[in-house]
Amino acid sequence: MSVKLDLKRLESFLQQEELAAHTAKAAQISRQLLACEDTDGVLGWRTLKHSALQLDLIRQKAQEIRRDADAFVIVGVGGSNQAARAMIEALEDRDGPEIIYLGNTLSPYYISHTLKKLEGKSVYIDIIAKNFETLEPGSHFRILRQWMKKYYTKDEMAKRIIVTGTIGSRLEEIAKENGYTFLQFPVPVGGRYSAFTPVGLFPCAVAGLDIDAFLAGVQAAMDDCRNNAEENPAVRYAAARNLLYGKGFDIEMLASFEPQYAFFAKWWIQLFGESEGKEKLGVFPAAAIYSEDLHSMGQYMQDGRRALMQTFLKVEDPKASAVIEPDAAFGDRFDYLDNMDFAQINKAAEQATLIAHTKGGVPCMVFEIDQINEKTFGELYYYFMGACAVSGKLMGVNPFDQEGVEEYKRSMFAALGK
Ligand code: PA5
Repeated sequence: MSVKLDLKRLESFLQQEELAAHTAKAAQISRQLLACEDTDGVLGWRTLKHSALQLDLIRQKAQEIRRDADAFVIVGVGGSNQAARAMIEALEDRDGPEIIYLGNTLSPYYISHTLKKLEGKSVYIDIIAKNFETLEPGSHFRILRQWMKKYYTKDEMAKRIIVTGTIGSRLEEIAKENGYTFLQFPVPVGGRYSAFTPVGLFPCAVAGLDIDAFLAGVQAAMDDCRNNAEENPAVRYAAARNLLYGKGFDIEMLASFEPQYAFFAKWWIQLFGESEGKEKLGVFPAAAIYSEDLHSMGQYMQDGRRALMQTFLKVEDPKASAVIEPDAAFGDRFDYLDNMDFAQINKAAEQATLIAHTKGGVPCMVFEIDQINEKTFGELYYYFMGACAVSGKLMGVNPFDQEGVEEYKRSMFAALGK
């Protein structure tokens, strides 16, 4: 596998026997999850069946957009945009259209500035909404349609609007009524579990990413979870973090020394926050990108309240090099770095942080990742989704619903007269 999990730094926090017993329990839950019937219609992420939906159409339309568009607007919020955004921000080749995000805010400043950015450009949009009831994507779709009407005929608009929604939803009807391209948001897949469905695949294809390599990564992790019930990273990670949670480590920091993972961290926060934070339970998920955040959160991580565990995304090969040339005459006192590569400096900082934080009382788990590419993104998505499902079950909550999110909406809709 291109992604591995190293738990050796937990030795001073967990007994080997208790970890083994908890891993066996987690593996049992995982086996059940993978084998049971999907009676509630929430387990579609367990296989790649739903990813295959309309793959040809995805490739064809993505090619057209890459050829004809200056800007591609992804309209979606939460699970409907985060996975694609995480990959695009990390891997985008910058040859295709500019990728722009809407449907994820209510800020008039952001919306109006984004519309201004579209002026004079050839624009395509993808509206991603599972039930098409969420205010942000629904309202931004209207604003974008009105903006597009100024520049495009009805036929041109039909060509330029793609909608990703569920069969039977109002969005599907709208697509039929107006001739928009319709991509399926599979019904038995929740937003935050939708990375390898058309929800994530289509925007990634438009951004020029290798979706075959991505799906190969997902498949590899799926096989690993099915074939190595107790040894796969999903189960081991779920067991370790749940055990740590039981010992009072109820905040988890996802940390990486690669800023390329900044948006992946947002996806991860949503996955665990929305899946576990219920019934007054749940690990509080947070994220840091080092070394920058060592200069803000580093103090707390080292020496603050001891309720923190930390999960590192450690990249073995950064596929990049930046060497510091000697400059003795300048006298800046940084000569100790002469001829060093930032690949080496970053690793030294990472290793030092791991040692210091472990010593400071923070249990650290480490995902070791060969390289940041489509394949490892596929593996990470599947491992974390599997871990989250198992972790939620270990905690005794339903990792697939999000009833709590409705509470603020009730007052907001009342205030808006819905
Ligand atoms: O994971 C989830 O189910 C949520 O975060 C949704 O993805 C998010 O609320 C957006 O929902 P929708 O696609 O229906 O607009």
